[in-house]
Amino acid sequence: MPTIISVASGKGGVGKSMVVSNLGLLLARKGHRVILVDMDIGGANLHILFGMFHPPSTLTDFFTNRETHLENIAHPLANTPSPLRLIPGTGETLITANLQHSKKKRLIRHLQKLDADIILVDVGAGTSYHTLDFFLLADCFLTVATPDPTSVLDLYRFIKLAAIRKVLTAFLARDPIAEALLSKDFHSITEVLEAVGRTSEAGLGLAQQMLQHFQPALILNRMTTKSRINTLHLQNLLKQYVGTDLSVLGNIPEDPHVQQSILKYLPVVEFSPQAPAALAFDQITENVLELVRQQEKLPQHIEEPRKIRA
Ligand SMILES: Nc1ncnc2c1ncn2[C@@H]1O[C@H](COP(=O)(O)OP(=O)(O)O)[C@@H](O)[C@H]1O
Ligand SMILES: [Mg+2]
Repeated sequence: MPTIISVASGKGGVGKSMVVSNLGLLLARKGHRVILVDMDIGGANLHILFGMFHPPSTLTDFFTNRETHLENIAHPLANTPSPLRLIPGTGETLITANLQHSKKKRLIRHLQKLDADIILVDVGAGTSYHTLDFFLLADCFLTVATPDPTSVLDLYRFIKLAAIRKVLTAFLARDPIAEALLSKDFHSITEVLEAVGRTSEAGLGLAQQMLQHFQPALILNRMTTKSRINTLHLQNLLKQYVGTDLSVLGNIPEDPHVQQSILKYLPVVEFSPQAPAALAFDQITENVLELVRQQEKLPQHIEEPRKIRA
């Protein structure tokens, strides 16, 4: 089964798609069979980053059942190593806006069956249920932020809500914990855990175990020598209020080569391999592979969420 890595950010425009395209290409160059999946509903543009202007088919075809096999919409990318393919994203349509739970489950089932080693999912910005669910379907969780304080705050909010959603989805199909949880709008993970704990001690243990396994990693993008990002503060906040450890996977500098490469429809690691941003991806790729190896050693999914309410 492939390892699924989701990449999210909370705030848009921080370089998530840039990270997905470059990381995907470097992983493929190392011989891993990689599929990029553009799940940024409404903001899908990964195909453009690779100069694929008219994708033969997209996730829309899958959601509308015009294409029954996800594998068939994983298109090889031109000018890149053969093990790299892309599943292009879908626009904001009524179908995607109201994506039923069954369609999300079908997508997850098909992702797990794809003929690949690594699947990189570009999750859209924001904290909608779709975004949180697409993020949480992965085995490894990557996040991207810039040193901009609003980007860091949005990331904190995103990770907190993702943690809440992760615990809630595990219990939504379980009685009686589900009933206790459904009636409330939770603002913190502590509130969720307290509500679970009041109903079932075993449930509380399971929820805490799930959170221990939820360890997103952070890539900082657009760093300059003047950037003063207090990652320790962010890590402490997450530990204290979400119970989650956030590791920093690497820094990508602000680099004009990135914009130039986008104008040429190429990842910067291909367009300008010696550019500072491109060089930063070497270490990040190694660190991501280490994450994948660690994940493979973990016991597989503690508890498959039974039901997701959208
Ligand atoms: N390291 C960087 N240096 C300079 N510009 C960057 C860098 N990373 C991203 N950008 C700029 O930010 C824009 C948005 O990046 P993108 O990956 O599309 O963001 P997202 O997917 O998070 O919305 C890019 O088009 C590029 O111009
Ligand atoms: Mg994007």
